[in-house]
Amino acid sequence: MKFLTIAASLAVATLSAVSALPVNTSAFQPRALTCPADVLSCSSASSGLDGCCVPSMGLLLLVQQWYQGLGPSNEFTMHGLWPDTCSGGQGPANGCDAARVYTDIDTRLQNYPSTPAGFMDDMNTYWSSYKGDNNAFWAHEWSKHGTCVSTLAPKCSSNYVQDQDVFNYFNTALGLRKQYNLYSVLSGAGINPGSTPNVADMHNAIKAAFGVDAQINCDSGVLSEIWLFFKVNTAGAYVPAEALTRGSCNGAISYPVKSGTIVPTSSVKPTSTTKASTTTTSRTSTSTSTPTGLPEGRQTGSCSTNGATVCVKNGSSNQYSKCVSGTWILNQCKTGLVCNSDTATSTHCA
Ligand SMILES: *[C@@H]1O[C@H](CO)[C@@H](O)[C@H](O)[C@H]1NC(C)=O
Ligand SMILES: *[C@@H]1O[C@H](CO)[C@@H](O)[C@H](O)[C@H]1NC(C)=O
Repeated sequence: MKFLTIAASLAVATLSAVSALPVNTSAFQPRALTCPADVLSCSSASSGLDGCCVPSMGLLLLVQQWYQGLGPSNEFTMHGLWPDTCSGGQGPANGCDAARVYTDIDTRLQNYPSTPAGFMDDMNTYWSSYKGDNNAFWAHEWSKHGTCVSTLAPKCSSNYVQDQDVFNYFNTALGLRKQYNLYSVLSGAGINPGSTPNVADMHNAIKAAFGVDAQINCDSGVLSEIWLFFKVNTAGAYVPAEALTRGSCNGAISYPVKSGTIVPTSSVKPTSTTKASTTTTSRTSTSTSTPTGLPEGRQTGSCSTNGATVCVKNGSSNQYSKCVSGTWILNQCKTGLVCNSDTATSTHCA
């Protein structure tokens, strides 16, 4: 499971920005039941199918925003991944599963054993809140929308791990955002921030890149959000679908330059982007050492000694970093055990 998750997220990360290959989410989640092959949500064949096979609401909307102060100046950022009915009806305002309404997404993602190194940095960069409280934003999106993605329900997985559903929701959304990179598509069509494009040209650029049109929304004539619609098949692939409406922008609109970045209030600090030494196992600036001089602290970024492990806090935390395929990932000992440092690159749980 762990390796599948890592492989899947790496695969997503290496896809080209304008590729139309659907993101395959089934690799994250072995099915607890057998689903018929090649059935797409919102098709006649999907009617009556179990919600673990295709999303029971039908559509998934990838909602990206263009918001002053949020994210890099050349990237749209996430608002959410929203399940809608096939005719565009929204889910319940308070979500679909009261038992999985959470307020601590930040902690859950950090503690989930298969969260890759760098994932929280991506969350803070590409899914930040204009109110400044990223965790509260994520908690709202998860509780209202994530709990309504029926295929993510714990009962759908044969080997469910606590918070796998939460991780898969955010990982899927970030993967889709990266794959359906609106900034690249628009820029490739000569539409760049600081201009007043005709929204028809934006629709044409998106349709040419993804094969389907999007909903483009404005706030007082200024670009605010672009919604991409997806159907999901029984193999877990997100397949672009035609937008149900063209949105609220008309004629020439403002596509403003974004400047400045809101510093996230999330407890997760962005890691340095400096490339790690290629000859030694990299350590982050958060590394400390145990009384006997062995390294400890959460490791992030690239690493060169595959299989190396480092305790987050020797003798007291159950978490440890592990070097897998050149990248540090966060792992954890079984409940009741804590990580103990043995050598500079090995640990054990006891
Ligand atoms: C998605 O991944 C699963 C598991 O790795 C695989 O069986 C399936 O064929 C893939 N589906 C698509 C559409 O690539
Ligand atoms: C790790 O912690 C344990 C328990 O507190 C302690 O006995 C041990 O000496 C520590 N190891 C190192 C390398 O500091």
